[in-house]
Amino acid sequence: MLQLGLIGSPLGHSLSPWLHSNFLEQTGLKGEYQLMEIKPENFSGEISTLKDREMNGFNVTVPFKREIIPFLDSIDDRASHLGAVNTVVVQDGKWRGYNTDGDGYLESVRAVYPDIISSAERVLIIGSGGAARGIAFSLSGLSLKIDITNRTPSRAEELLSDLPEAVRGRVLTLNEAALALDEYDWVIQTTSVGMAPKPEEIPIDVKKVKEDALFSDIVYRPLETRFLLEAKRKGARVHYGHLMLLYQAAYSFALWTNEEVLPASLITEMESKLEG
Ligand code: ATR
Repeated sequence: MLQLGLIGSPLGHSLSPWLHSNFLEQTGLKGEYQLMEIKPENFSGEISTLKDREMNGFNVTVPFKREIIPFLDSIDDRASHLGAVNTVVVQDGKWRGYNTDGDGYLESVRAVYPDIISSAERVLIIGSGGAARGIAFSLSGLSLKIDITNRTPSRAEELLSDLPEAVRGRVLTLNEAALALDEYDWVIQTTSVGMAPKPEEIPIDVKKVKEDALFSDIVYRPLETRFLLEAKRKGARVHYGHLMLLYQAAYSFALWTNEEVLPASLITEMESKLEG
């Protein structure tokens, strides 16, 4: 019986138990996925208790993606480089940390818009936090140039300078990015702007888009952010945030079980859960 779960705070409406129960069912494995909410002030004590439980693996979400690192026995290169772990695999009592966010995002785009992965030349990332960093590193293996815009340009500069030179583009202010938006084949919104309870917010004005461009938002509550709605109205193709959540979960599940699942089969039901 696999023992899986999620640590974080708050965990209120997490879809992860539902996603992983479906993956367990698909693969015919027996197990359970529990929500383990931990108060930040109790973190180290609760982690010691978790070490004594016979877990097979668990996910880590805000605010512990960095805090978990000192408690690991080893860490995958990507997660180490990002300084953030969202998946822990337990083997022979040893904890190893991974980060599946960026590759989950990339896989979710590949599943819906494979042409973007192979043909996009210029990409704009909006934001420079942990999510932007994970996505930017996963994109680094593609043949494209990444520009970054952020409310605080110095954070964008820092992220850009950490990327391999081959993909490094330039940093733009939010205003500059809004004016140049139609130069990009792929625009990725990674900030929390537009998330419930403030769905009226938008990180940059979407006045013009390039023909066939893909606009993507990692926010999934609401399912369709104002950013995506406006991009769609201007003729862009759009990619929704819940797909990243779905595919990063499938990656975590594969790390725990070595089993591949079919995430796409869950999309419709996931959408009705998020809308409901
Ligand atoms: P995460 O790890 O989820 O990406 P984070 O590290 O706090 O979270 O980063 C949040 C991102 O959203 C940052 O790019 C942040 O911009 P700053 O670097 O200027 O803080 C961006 N962000 C958050 N609230 C914003 C707002 N109201 N307007 C514009 N950008 C915002």
